[in-house]
Amino acid sequence: MMNEEIPNLTAFDEAALDKAFGVVEQQAREAAAALSGGEAVEAFRLQWLGRKQGRLTEISARWLKVAPPEAKKALGQKFNALKAVVEGLLDEAAGAGPNDAALAAEAIDITLPGTRRLTGAEHPITRTLNEITSVFAALGYSVGVGPEVETDYYNFECMNFPPDHPARDTQDTLVVANQDRRPQRDRLLLRTHTSPVQMRTMETQPPPVRIVIPGKVHRNDAADATHSPIFHQVEGLCVDTNITFSDLKGTLDHAMKALFGSAVKTRFYPSFFPFTEPSADVQISCIFCGGKGCGKCKQSGWIELLGCGMVDPAVFAFAAEKQPAYDPKKISGFAFGMGVERIAMMKYGISEIGSFYAGDMRFLGQFA
Ligand code: DAH
Repeated sequence: MMNEEIPNLTAFDEAALDKAFGVVEQQAREAAAALSGGEAVEAFRLQWLGRKQGRLTEISARWLKVAPPEAKKALGQKFNALKAVVEGLLDEAAGAGPNDAALAAEAIDITLPGTRRLTGAEHPITRTLNEITSVFAALGYSVGVGPEVETDYYNFECMNFPPDHPARDTQDTLVVANQDRRPQRDRLLLRTHTSPVQMRTMETQPPPVRIVIPGKVHRNDAADATHSPIFHQVEGLCVDTNITFSDLKGTLDHAMKALFGSAVKTRFYPSFFPFTEPSADVQISCIFCGGKGCGKCKQSGWIELLGCGMVDPAVFAFAAEKQPAYDPKKISGFAFGMGVERIAMMKYGISEIGSFYAGDMRFLGQFA
């Protein structure tokens, strides 16, 4: 934009003033019309309204200050009118900048229907975890948690898996790298079961104990329709005076009926776990065929669902190192551990364990 100098006025009569202001106003209008972009608008503002070197300041100095007294009023009015014109031009130019398109794009059409937000829902695994824990909460159990990165000691040793004992091979373990310089008991791994939280609980609290522990566990297993390297378990532990295998049977029979319906029967099948003696697998009558035998139960009428047993005195001996009240001569207890995915798959008729982790809304939406 050309910045022509403001000429000095030679005459101050009405016609001369109109002409002079007319010329300047015309210059302002032409300059404003050619503006594009925020920077140009700002330059225009400085050029016309800038306090020190703006053209209006110059007009004020060259025309107003030197005008004869009788012309001052008319000059002042015309000056103010010109200033209003320039400000108007500036407002227009600023408002009509490139922002306009952006503003239009953001404009809200309030006549359009709104975006409906989907209501969140519990994941079927979370829901099953909650169902299981609330069955036991109703029996007076509290709920505990423990770390997912565990030491060799808690995951294995104190659960009566001695170092190098073949029972460790039943739980293919993911270990944390570069632990070789530590003593074996301190080496870190991803817990393969929730059982270590039994010991963590006993170490911090003398008997009686009634606790369920829901949580995530890891195994170095290949994924297939029913296995996943990450899955969930609910652990249970009950320790008191005179706890017997009958208490274990009654508690788990009740829990299975609460989870699968009062028609299910349970049976306790001899098994082995290092941390329980005796140990059992709990089987429930097949919920698909009622026990007659079908493809789901491999014609046996029974489905194996969880492990359990009476707490091994060797486990109490480890607990007694920190809490002497865990004296196996005075107290007894039972423990159990169940796979949450397996229970959820049975309850909801899911055939692929991977469906839980795929994040497919068509699957998850069915639990909303
Ligand atoms: N920790 C066992 C596993 O992951 C499950 C289990 C079995 C837990 C028997 C127990 C129990 O507390 O008594 O295979």
